[in-house]
Amino acid sequence: MGTDHHERDLHEPGLHEPDLHELLRSLRVWDIDLPSFDPAAAPAGPLALFTAWFAQAVAAGQVEPHTMSLATADEAGLPDVRTVMLHGADASGWSFATHDGSRKGRQLAARPYAALGFYWPAQGRQVRVRGPVTSAPSAESQADLHARSTGALAAALTGRQSEVLASLEELARESQAAWERAQREPDAPVPSWTLYRLRPDEVEFFQGDAARRHVRLVYRRTEQGWAKELLWP
Ligand SMILES: Cc1cc2nc3c(=O)[nH]c(=O)nc-3n(C[C@H](O)[C@H](O)[C@H](O)COP(=O)(O)O)c2cc1C
Repeated sequence: MGTDHHERDLHEPGLHEPDLHELLRSLRVWDIDLPSFDPAAAPAGPLALFTAWFAQAVAAGQVEPHTMSLATADEAGLPDVRTVMLHGADASGWSFATHDGSRKGRQLAARPYAALGFYWPAQGRQVRVRGPVTSAPSAESQADLHARSTGALAAALTGRQSEVLASLEELARESQAAWERAQREPDAPVPSWTLYRLRPDEVEFFQGDAARRHVRLVYRRTEQGWAKELLWP
């Protein structure tokens, strides 16, 4: 991989290089009017609160509130994380989809447990979800994929996710072929594409506060149903 022009320019004498630490010091969080959150009025289970907060994030104009960090661990127990789209949340869990042969797919096969993280800065809110993960039956995974956009199907058809790519030209060729197939065959199967469900053991809701009196409410699954506790911020 060569150095691109932009990066090279930055290293020419006399040109301004951004100072990362200066930039970091100049930035703030929770500098806006934040909503209040009364945990005493929170519903009995986390799904209702997640659904309410999600709708409020959409209404507040939060960009891409349906993207989340998905943390997994590899066979050795070492952590990994990446962004994926939320496909749904209901009584059976929070769902997302990917290739079962991807790095995360292999990690989930070895250790079927994951954590999700949502951050909605428009309201200073964070939601964390942890629990065991199962794969949906193939027919359900395929139906979920075919209900999505042509682009989503084309991306899935391109396949080989997380394998080493020889060149961008190869990707362009394969992607073009995948787009053509997706348009021609909107029900084309992608056997590796899998819908995963995370059934939470624990869901935490964090409401940021300008005075740093952040409110943290955690729901834990028990034999008797959901238990709720506050946590020190
Ligand atoms: C906003 C956004 C949404 C994404 N959504 C998905 C997704 O739903 N499924 C997926 O497999 N990859 C998605 N990706 C790509 C993943 O972040 C990641 O690069 C890819 O899945 C390979 O991860 P892995 O090597 O850990 O398996 C998304 C990336 C971004 C930035």
